[in-house]
Amino acid sequence: MADWSYELPIRETQWHVPSGGDVTFNWDYETSRERLLRLYEKGKDKQWNATHRIDWDIDVDPTDPEARPSETIAIYGSDIWNRMTEAEQATVRHHQLAWLNSQFLHGEQGALICAAKVVGTVPHLDAKFYAATQVIDEARHVEVYSRYLREKLEMAYPINESLKTLLDQVIADSRWDMTYLGMQIMIEGLALAAFGLIRDYTTEPLAKAINTFVMQDEARHVAFGNLALRDFYPNLTEAEREEREEFVVEASYLMRDRFTGNEVWERLGLPVDETAAIVEQSPVMASFRTMLFSRLVPNVKAIGLWGPKVQKAFADMGVLVFQDLDPDTLAEQDEALARQIDDQMRLSKDEADELATKGVDERRAAEVQSVIRLADDD
Ligand SMILES: [Fe+2]
Ligand SMILES: [Fe+2]
Repeated sequence: MADWSYELPIRETQWHVPSGGDVTFNWDYETSRERLLRLYEKGKDKQWNATHRIDWDIDVDPTDPEARPSETIAIYGSDIWNRMTEAEQATVRHHQLAWLNSQFLHGEQGALICAAKVVGTVPHLDAKFYAATQVIDEARHVEVYSRYLREKLEMAYPINESLKTLLDQVIADSRWDMTYLGMQIMIEGLALAAFGLIRDYTTEPLAKAINTFVMQDEARHVAFGNLALRDFYPNLTEAEREEREEFVVEASYLMRDRFTGNEVWERLGLPVDETAAIVEQSPVMASFRTMLFSRLVPNVKAIGLWGPKVQKAFADMGVLVFQDLDPDTLAEQDEALARQIDDQMRLSKDEADELATKGVDERRAAEVQSVIRLADDD
């Protein structure tokens, strides 16, 4: 798309959200926590330029069934799907991909705004330093997803209403920990799992590279959220902690039940209720929804918001199984996979093509499969 336009009409091109509250200066330039400073150093060392690190010359066919397994189409196998011609199925594939990447894009803009807000509101200087590196990371993420949508998918969707509701709630709250809990632990926690599924399943090299590199950055963001909130939450009163736990439960249900992409069915003129019911009942989509919580659950546990209400909600949703995944190990894997892609890009074109045709990383695919099975057994 030469000009940026949306598949569905939007009422306004700007969205104003009151974000109130105070910002905090800190005159104590000396008291710094070792681990936060190390993370800040890492944040500086690991900066990258998306213009150069990513090969934007790669051609993308958004309708290519080889690149993305049909099982990832929400209505795959249903009567509605089976009645479609190949061309109609290709259109569904294209739109669904554009919808998902559009939500990544809008979510990343939320992360950009939230990271900038944390710089102002978080009390300690070491955390302000680190959050400043995250601001540029999130700007880069907005850059890569918008470029991918504009140049490669040539299609974009407006923000999903449930995601917008959650963003509104997070940004309107003036407390720095709520910005971080809502954005980094909840919204980006879900996003991280979705990036991971694309990274590990797609054979489309550009999407694979983008999502792998973004995840490398996100690994640091999660580490920061864990460090900052792990120190902070034990000092809250019972009532204050309870309020945060209720937020975690509500936001989890909102995203699981309402973040479903019905906009695509609306846009394509399919019967929305009927199609939504198919998606709701699809076992593959149930696994997908479960997998979305694989990154969020271990982090909620790590920051100590692990009261009975949270555990009960996660048990009801069938995602409690993820509580034993170690966030640090997952982050190390994310980094290793990003280095692997860098190495591949240094290979000659022929060698890289050969690697690309090997497709899905089988070891990672097996890991993802075993997590899905674990969740099914729960
Ligand atoms: Fe991000
Ligand atoms: Fe992030």
